[in-house]
Amino acid sequence: MLQKLLSGMYPCSDEMKHLSSESLFKRAAKVIPGGSYGHTSPVSSLPLHFPKFAEKASGCKYIDVDGNEWIDFMCGYGAIIHGYREPSIESAVDEIRSRGTIFNHPHSVMVELAEMLTSEIDFGNWAVFAKNGSDLTTWSIRVAREFSQKPYIIKACGSYHGVDAWCDPGMGGRISSDRSEILEFKWNDLNQFEDLFKKFSNQIAGVILCPYHHPAFLPSVMPNDEFWGSVRKICDEHEAVLILDDVRAGWRMHSQGSHRYFDFAPDLAVYSKALGNGYAISACVGSERFKKAASDVFLTGSSWNDASAMVAAVQSLSLSKSKNVAESILKKGRFFCEGIEKLAQQSGFDLEMTGPQSMPYPWFKGDDNLYLIQKFCEYASIEGLFFHPHHNWFISDAHDMETLADSLEKTETAFKFLSDSLS
Ligand SMILES: Cc1ncc(COP(=O)(O)O)c(C=O)c1O
Repeated sequence: MLQKLLSGMYPCSDEMKHLSSESLFKRAAKVIPGGSYGHTSPVSSLPLHFPKFAEKASGCKYIDVDGNEWIDFMCGYGAIIHGYREPSIESAVDEIRSRGTIFNHPHSVMVELAEMLTSEIDFGNWAVFAKNGSDLTTWSIRVAREFSQKPYIIKACGSYHGVDAWCDPGMGGRISSDRSEILEFKWNDLNQFEDLFKKFSNQIAGVILCPYHHPAFLPSVMPNDEFWGSVRKICDEHEAVLILDDVRAGWRMHSQGSHRYFDFAPDLAVYSKALGNGYAISACVGSERFKKAASDVFLTGSSWNDASAMVAAVQSLSLSKSKNVAESILKKGRFFCEGIEKLAQQSGFDLEMTGPQSMPYPWFKGDDNLYLIQKFCEYASIEGLFFHPHHNWFISDAHDMETLADSLEKTETAFKFLSDSLS
């Protein structure tokens, strides 16, 4: 493979058989604004040779529309934790689907799921369900405002909490008032955080934060040792609601919620992604004090009672618990991250896998314009590895040690080519 690369035969989209992807994208561009949107849009600077449409998937691999097989390190951008088409989840969904999934009323599985979540999540006494993380991050700040009767919400600069105007990345369609009651502080800067409470005395309804900081295009940052304890204390002193956005990290750091990993208790927490292992579902879990406010803030959606996603969540949670998946993927992630850092070093690169090892963000030291990571992901893709150049990667429980070792071996070729291309 390397010989082909060096002789100029790679990278080349024809060689990678991307013809169906490209022609589908041309069709899509006529009928879908931008061809595709959000993080899958080419505007978000994904390498050109990346496939644009997928066909099928199983375990930790997927096949694109041109029939290329990929070892996947993105897991549907985090929606998959047990592997694609995990058999016990699929059979539970098939079984419920044969009887119908959306009715005039919720299915009994909704109560089962709420009971399960409130028994697993230590601070939780109630749960509500929707389809996307954004549905419930936005709803949760309204619960905080309803509870406190105060207007302001604090978030960390550069953090992502969804597509709504109060927190989106600001790519169009916003007016200044969308964020007039949103305040920001620099992650880990507790002085700046506390100053906001002084400046907006008695006006702060709540604080929404991810368990650790994962800004786009930048390395992930873990909380300092005193961070969560101090955030909890300051929120209590000022009677502000502490909301944990565990949409991305939920069940990837601790099998009972990421707050357990850092040993604190939020007031509300929002989950999605891994919760349904590929079926669209989100949940907000809260403590007793906020139950009345939660019942007073309007909440509904056309397909939110979908029993198939709820049964998938029940199965996904059972597996996460019985197999202690968080511990398993952290261990697999450690093997992979330490391996790739070592291989990078052997090729003369200073690569750090930042953030939790089950969902690491790769950062080449000094690579501020992301050139090295773009090139590395491009060369790795020739080996059939699907790595993202500016989003954290994900390890699922379907990534067995053999596949991880094989992937590391393949990255060796990518590093070698990266190194040769620079010299
Ligand atoms: C931390 C975090 N919060 C909220 C969201 C929004 O979730 P969704 O895309 O399901 O609306 C995301 C999505 O990536 C996320 O990573």
